[in-house]
Amino acid sequence: MAAGETLFNRFIGPLLGQFFNEEEIKRPYRGLDWEVATKAIKRDGLVYPEYYLSANYHGIRGGYMSADAAMTYDPVTQYALFPHENLVRDCLVRSVRTCPRRILDLGCGTGSTTLLLKRAFPDAQVVGLDLSPYMLVAAGLKAQRQNLDVVFCHGDAGETGFAPRSFDLVTASLLFHETPAVFTRQVLREMHRLLPPGGECLILDGSQQTLSRSEWLMNIFEEPHIKAYAAGNLDTWMAECGLGAVETSEHWFIHQVSRGVRPFDCADLEDVGFAGAGA
Ligand SMILES: C[S@@+](CC[C@H](N)C(=O)[O-])C[C@H]1O[C@@H](n2cnc3c(N)ncnc32)[C@H](O)[C@@H]1O
Repeated sequence: MAAGETLFNRFIGPLLGQFFNEEEIKRPYRGLDWEVATKAIKRDGLVYPEYYLSANYHGIRGGYMSADAAMTYDPVTQYALFPHENLVRDCLVRSVRTCPRRILDLGCGTGSTTLLLKRAFPDAQVVGLDLSPYMLVAAGLKAQRQNLDVVFCHGDAGETGFAPRSFDLVTASLLFHETPAVFTRQVLREMHRLLPPGGECLILDGSQQTLSRSEWLMNIFEEPHIKAYAAGNLDTWMAECGLGAVETSEHWFIHQVSRGVRPFDCADLEDVGFAGAGA
């Protein structure tokens, strides 16, 4: 793909040109000084994982690190998530079985799932975390427009810096098909660390079963790690990272929701004074 080419030129323009124009897509951001806004949200000293800056997601040089990526993400994604974006995201929300008070959405992007979680659990404190300050600025604007109180912060899902056991629900939507398998396990270990015993972990992404059988599906968008994702098994990865009661359900053939729970271990029982827990 030539330098300077954008998601708009590559996908939206040719496919959806009759419904949208670039001017319309950029209208919600008119007057926004991206440099000032991203500077305000950037965490000083944050080290980006090597894979993140070196890959060209969706064929866009620079991946998610541009205003263009942030502005065009939602218009493209609404058509990429069959049969309907909110129905697909809702599969994750409807899989929550507890009543979480603190929710963390990793790789939150422009916050679409994060905001649905806040709507479903209005009393919960909801935090979205992403490596791209541009995506976070777009997420913050969406939350503001919908009058939803959600905190968006700049960070690495593999090493968030939050205290152990500080969230009772940790989610990731459409993140793992974009991370190298080794890094995915690092994020799953981090999810486990952030949950208290009984806390839930929910992951929405492409169906590994369907993707692994459909080469053409994997080639629609340029995704550097999707083949390794499709060849793997999220249930196994989650169990290896200490999560229990792991299960995956398929939705509309091309999506899956995986759920796991941090089990109680002996140390947890000792914490609550159960004599002989370590015996
Ligand atoms: C395909 S988008 C998904 C965004 C959003 N969760 C959604 O469902 O639309 C992947 C997002 O993950 C972010 N990301 C990738 N690696 C990350 C990491 N190590 N830590 C935090 N965010 C990451 C990217 O910046 C991007 O916003």
